[in-house]
Amino acid sequence: MRHFFSTAIVVASLAGHIYGHRHAAPSNYDEAPVRQRKTLGIRTNGFTPMDKSMCPMKVAKVFIEDVLSQTAADGLSYRIRDDSYTDKNTGVTHVFARQLVNGLDVADGDMNINIKDGMVISYGNSFFKGTPPVASLEHILTGELRDPRVEACTAARQHLRANRDSYAEQFVMGTHEPIAPEAVQNIHDNCATAFDAPSFATDDIMDFRAALLQFMHTATPNSKLSEDIEENFHSYKEKMDITPVNHFDSPNSRNDVEFTVGNVPDTVNPVKAKLMYTQVPNQAGDGTDLQLVWKFEVEMEDNWYEAAVSVQPPHKIVHVVDWASDSYVPIPKKPVVTEYNVFPWGVNDPAEGERSIEKESFDKLASPAGWHAIPVANDPSLRNVRLRSSDFWRNTTTTWGNNVFAQENWEGANAYIDNYRPDAGQSKNFDFKYDPKETEKVDALAEAKKYINTTVTQLFYTTNLVHDLYYRYGFDEVAGNFQQYNFGRGGRENDGVIANAQDGSGYNNANFMTPPDGQNGRMRMYLWNTAIPYRDGDLEAGIVIHELSHGLSTRLTGGPLNSGCLGWGESGGMGEGWGDFLATTIRSNKTYSDYPMGAWAANRDQGIRNFVYSLDTAVNPSVYKTLDKPGYWGVHAIGEVWAEILWVVSQRLIEKHGYSEDLFPPAPNDDGSVPPGDFYRTTTVQGKPLVPKHGNSLIVQLVINGMKLQPCRPTFFHARDAIIAADQVLTEGENFCTLWKGFAERGLGVDAKIEGQTPWGGGVRTNGFAVPPACQGETEPEEPKEPEHGDKKKKKHKKD
Ligand SMILES: *[C@@H]1O[C@H](CO)[C@@H](O)[C@H](O)[C@H]1NC(C)=O
Ligand SMILES: *[C@@H]1O[C@H](CO)[C@@H](O)[C@H](O)[C@H]1NC(C)=O
Ligand SMILES: *[C@@H]1O[C@H](CO)[C@@H](O)[C@H](O)[C@H]1NC(C)=O
Repeated sequence: MRHFFSTAIVVASLAGHIYGHRHAAPSNYDEAPVRQRKTLGIRTNGFTPMDKSMCPMKVAKVFIEDVLSQTAADGLSYRIRDDSYTDKNTGVTHVFARQLVNGLDVADGDMNINIKDGMVISYGNSFFKGTPPVASLEHILTGELRDPRVEACTAARQHLRANRDSYAEQFVMGTHEPIAPEAVQNIHDNCATAFDAPSFATDDIMDFRAALLQFMHTATPNSKLSEDIEENFHSYKEKMDITPVNHFDSPNSRNDVEFTVGNVPDTVNPVKAKLMYTQVPNQAGDGTDLQLVWKFEVEMEDNWYEAAVSVQPPHKIVHVVDWASDSYVPIPKKPVVTEYNVFPWGVNDPAEGERSIEKESFDKLASPAGWHAIPVANDPSLRNVRLRSSDFWRNTTTTWGNNVFAQENWEGANAYIDNYRPDAGQSKNFDFKYDPKETEKVDALAEAKKYINTTVTQLFYTTNLVHDLYYRYGFDEVAGNFQQYNFGRGGRENDGVIANAQDGSGYNNANFMTPPDGQNGRMRMYLWNTAIPYRDGDLEAGIVIHELSHGLSTRLTGGPLNSGCLGWGESGGMGEGWGDFLATTIRSNKTYSDYPMGAWAANRDQGIRNFVYSLDTAVNPSVYKTLDKPGYWGVHAIGEVWAEILWVVSQRLIEKHGYSEDLFPPAPNDDGSVPPGDFYRTTTVQGKPLVPKHGNSLIVQLVINGMKLQPCRPTFFHARDAIIAADQVLTEGENFCTLWKGFAERGLGVDAKIEGQTPWGGGVRTNGFAVPPACQGETEPEEPKEPEHGDKKKKKHKKD
């Protein structure tokens, strides 16, 4: 019996919810996008802009091949991912390319190329630039791969076998006293497949079970299970149920070596395993090497990991991204029968307003079938039911629809289909009681459960509105939004949001898991035991919007099928920041105010962040350089700096363009065209994009368009540049100086810099308060005026 199993040396513990290994995946972009934004041309490596009419895919190919030709090495190629798309409004084609080496994907070899009118307007590039490993895929698969570590392993193995053969498994799993220090060191460093012959024959290399178990051993929060994996390693391994995945749909993927694996401990769905390369820092520290890894997609109760584990023993976790992110209106367009008693859109939480009866105000473009209809074929509750009806649609009277499945999840588990959800019956009136009583602490949970009808209704209502709102700003089917059915409009379907209210798996938090397009997003909202009666996160719109925005930013950055672009560091931080910014923008009104995040749920005026979002530096002093402070390594702290910067930028745009009372664009005409109303600028030019007229709607549009333009694993600089590029595309750069001035106010001006940053993090930041030369005079027709601080006094959070 082969003992392929291995390695003891678990690299790091899973700290918190996101854990970036120090040798995390690189994000070394050639250059920030759009350095030449003013000209919209490119000046890269001899590539000449094509003519306007050239197909964007063709432009992308010429461009990529030009970039690749700079790398002399053979064996490098690429594929254009089929989640590339053209933005309907701006006409920008977002092309996502994945690097291939020896026919295998390079997991972090991404290029995103933004093309308009035959020209590349910006791009990001993290392709591997070195010489690829000589081994061809055939070599790898036929076991001809030779690694010096094999020799070292053999020596160590012999040594150890001579000594303590019987301690094999415990030792390898790291639970036994060391035997001989040099041997141990040798094994730790070099192999850890110490006991039975590691033959590196075909099926050894292809046997990822040990690597996967090693990962689960590290990833599971259940220490009993970890121990049990150590003790019963072989039986866990044997129980795994492996199915090869064959791709028939894409000629690009025929080389893929991919499997699904059932019966993996502590997972809630089969694991996906795919053979790939990933980039790791080279010895000199000035570039990358390629390492062969198994990429696993592991869905657990509380985490959803994308992990790269080295193929060869010792099976090191090379990088890991958790798709789960913790968090911490107007619009009745076409009234229909369904009504909800809810805190209406724009009321952030129960301290800010009262409930009222609201209609199902679905947006005709975003949700053509309304919120309570789902095609029979896309309804997961009917998967095993043979329906006699031949109806296409199934209409529901519950919180179950095409965009969202909302239900309680007191059990805190993964199941959701049969969980309780309110049923309004034929009256379609979701009008339930909300009157939480002060109780003894022991009874507080039971009291909260009494208003589950109300809380699920609210969650369903808020989530649908956010779906519709983001849709209208371009988070549509091709961009990777969340819907069970896509109305034939492209993108991957069967991925509505599973929204769990009062989730029993925690308190005082919320989270969202974003797998790639075509798989359901999962949102979990918790009760907050910060007061009695308990406060229910489902009722605080800001928290729900923050969570749903993870789905938005993750799907838009780097393309719908790449969920690994906002994993950690600055990019992970911005993943949090966008959510805070959008939640704050949505709750704001014409009279300027400062806003905290999560203040009601947390029962704390200041909210859950270090500072309240404010234009006033005395209230919120965050600047770019703040990221160097102790305590700013975590994604939430980084995120609040980004959200604050965006908040300042947004106020400057509002000063210039005014404020729209309603963030929702006007309802479409019957032919699907959109009237400008008071929302968009009127344009007489055919084919020009619709441009939101007001500062608050414009910044939402620019932020969302920027997500589509920026590269995978963006830094603050990339994201800033992408917003400025988005303005270039949308308005031909009329806000160039306003945006730069806004960013510069908080240290993110043109002279901001970071020194000593490696692709893997670190570095020392310098604030930059300068704007481009073109903005230094009075070149821009704008008169900065003081914001209306009329309403600055802190809001009182009344007791329930
Ligand atoms: C069910 O929903 C579909 C899609 O919105 C709609 O066309 C149909 O009229 C509805 N049927 C009923 C009985 O309400
Ligand atoms: C929820 O609503 C249903 C239908 O009106 C009702 O029967 C049920 O008692 C309610 N649940 C709670 C906990 O109030
Ligand atoms: C605007 O928002 C602030 C803060 O939430 C609130 O105090 C104020 O009453 C609101 N004003 C209007 C006109 O709604």
